[in-house]
Amino acid sequence: MFAVLLCCACSGEAEPREFPPVEALPARAELPDPLVTFFDAEPITSADDWRDVRRPELRALFEHYVYGVAPAAPTISVEVETPDVEVLPGVVHRGVAITLSKDAPRIHLALFLPAGVAKPPVLLALNPCGNQSLLESEAVRFTDAFRALGCGAERGSRAERWPIAEIAARGYALATFHESDVDPDDPADERSLDGVHPHFDSGEGFRSAWGRLAAWAWGLSRAVDYLVSDDSVDGARIAVAGHSRRGKTALLAAALDERIAIAIPHQSGTGGASVARGNTGESVAVITQLFPNWFDDVYATFADQEDRLPIDQHLLIAMVAPRPVLVTNGAEDLRADPPASLRAVEAAAEVYELLGVAEPIVRGADGRPTLDGPLSWHERTGGHSLEPRDWMTFIDFAERR
Ligand code: GCU
Repeated sequence: MFAVLLCCACSGEAEPREFPPVEALPARAELPDPLVTFFDAEPITSADDWRDVRRPELRALFEHYVYGVAPAAPTISVEVETPDVEVLPGVVHRGVAITLSKDAPRIHLALFLPAGVAKPPVLLALNPCGNQSLLESEAVRFTDAFRALGCGAERGSRAERWPIAEIAARGYALATFHESDVDPDDPADERSLDGVHPHFDSGEGFRSAWGRLAAWAWGLSRAVDYLVSDDSVDGARIAVAGHSRRGKTALLAAALDERIAIAIPHQSGTGGASVARGNTGESVAVITQLFPNWFDDVYATFADQEDRLPIDQHLLIAMVAPRPVLVTNGAEDLRADPPASLRAVEAAAEVYELLGVAEPIVRGADGRPTLDGPLSWHERTGGHSLEPRDWMTFIDFAERR
């Protein structure tokens, strides 16, 4: 039986709690109340209770039931691999290698800085096909991570979807790497020797410890370790964005790492910003069959019984509060179930209110959230894709904050 030390609401002392298995949990169609604790059914009535009791409890619940537990932050070392060079008009590229520990793999972070802008805010995002796919320039290091090789990894193949020059023109830096630097995304590969697992796993085997989403989110935090130490960007204004599996990762990273100022999960769906209860897109059964190694082993036990989950994804959004969150969608992206992400956003709002945000969701004439509130949901036309218009929406939102 898994146990965790949690702070008790009444005494403030840590005490061991056991996580009930799925069959011992009640089936409840309604979303778990953000402001009532799971273990003691205690009401949460103050910001201190949220910070000291409910948020740590939620972290432990998500770690146990969904994503697994990432290891403590290692001491990283950083080396500039590619010195600053202008790769597009107004865009300076710097390649930085982040070494995670002795002999461990390195994160190859590509930074695209707006020329002449002092301490720009940063959009941090995992990319799907390697840094070199984002623009034609030979200056960008070619990734040798194997997942990227089957992905149209040639130079510039994704340039149309990553409008680096426009992002820089709006005064933002882009920091990006491919997740295979941390943990290659291979469903057939239970324990990849190419990623961080041989270096950071406990003896239990990685899926009973941490799944790939947890590993990638941990990797984003290592990029944050570097960004907050680099004076050429504003480490207090880091927004983490991501599409689909990388959107799930972005939300998880922001939930766990309070240095991340804004979370922008784009079309993140199940395991991301869409609640599992009542989800008409991807079920827990489907996602854990297709991608068992994204999660820990416990999440799959909720297949066809999502209503027994002691958490749901609105609580992952709530863990980011009071920091801004923008959940973006494509109207035709039914697999990610945009309405389920709207329900998640709406159910997280009361946590923002508890933390002193008077109007977390600002609604337009159609009743839908606008980009004006710190807790926002946006739906554009079209399907499952990351497009230049999405990046512009991310920046429209970040600029308002
Ligand atoms: C699959 C998966 C989704 C995921 C998507 C992606 O479709 O089922 O959950 O978001 O891949 O990452 O592109």
